[in-house]
Amino acid sequence: MNGRITEKAYSKLNLSLDVLGKRDDGFHEMLMVMQSISLSDDIAITARDGQGSVSVKTNRSFLPVNEKNLAFSAAKLFLDSLNIKDTDVHIDLKKNVPVCAGMGGGSSDAAAVLRGMNALFGKPLGASELMELAAKCGSDVPFCVTGGTMLASGRGTDFKPLTAIPDCAFVVVKPSFSVRTPDLFRAIDDVKLRVRPDTEGLVAAIADGDLMGISRRVFDVFESVLPQPRRETVERAKADLIDAGAFGASMTGTGSAVFGVFSDYDAASSAKNALRATWKEIYAARPVSRIDV
Ligand code: C5P
Repeated sequence: MNGRITEKAYSKLNLSLDVLGKRDDGFHEMLMVMQSISLSDDIAITARDGQGSVSVKTNRSFLPVNEKNLAFSAAKLFLDSLNIKDTDVHIDLKKNVPVCAGMGGGSSDAAAVLRGMNALFGKPLGASELMELAAKCGSDVPFCVTGGTMLASGRGTDFKPLTAIPDCAFVVVKPSFSVRTPDLFRAIDDVKLRVRPDTEGLVAAIADGDLMGISRRVFDVFESVLPQPRRETVERAKADLIDAGAFGASMTGTGSAVFGVFSDYDAASSAKNALRATWKEIYAARPVSRIDV
């Protein structure tokens, strides 16, 4: 098989994130409202007659290009699960999304590889099979396959699609520290969470197209288990975003990225320009709606 396809790997924000408890399989029971945004990696997948090998090239020299890279392991999983042994796959990954930020950067790469390879090979997998494969790559990968606005539960891999959020824009600040996801999950086991997101209210605000109601309810329980001075840094990023005009602000995922919700892209761009002297890694982005697979 010979062919080439390009895919956008959209990153995500957690408009809300709640951890409900620990499961028997070692994972945690989650309840989150997830939103894909226009800040994305660019992926080109080339397939050539060969022996079933996978290779990855990326513009970030610190990233692995073997099975430790989720894009690589997703491609390998796709070939193995369909028993494809006569095609080599090469992935060119242009990374724009910050790494270890809670924005699903690696997960969205894996999802884009699965989506792209499925299209390139003539759609051998239906949507639910693609989601199953995605869940084997990681908990955030199934969401990234279609993206949009979704309520995620279970391990983070069960979904209820929600109405697209109203027109708005986000500014995302990436503080310089990075977080190891398992460490924060461990930390959350040791505390009793006192404040939780109003997920029901958030879902209702989304159904009503109420941007103020949405912005007031953005919330991530992982903020409360960040050690100092990291927590302080996240608080400062949120305060700066609000001062710059955001209607609401929160960390996303296990961090360290923090986002603010703005009325439109112009307002987000002005805020980004105003804050870039303080926060070196800063982005403006739009919400992205669901992709059909
Ligand atoms: O699924 P993924 O590989 O992205 O998960 C990374 C780590 O995050 C897991 O090894 C686990 O420690 C933690 N995790 C969890 N519960 C979830 C998702 C992730 O405990 N629902």
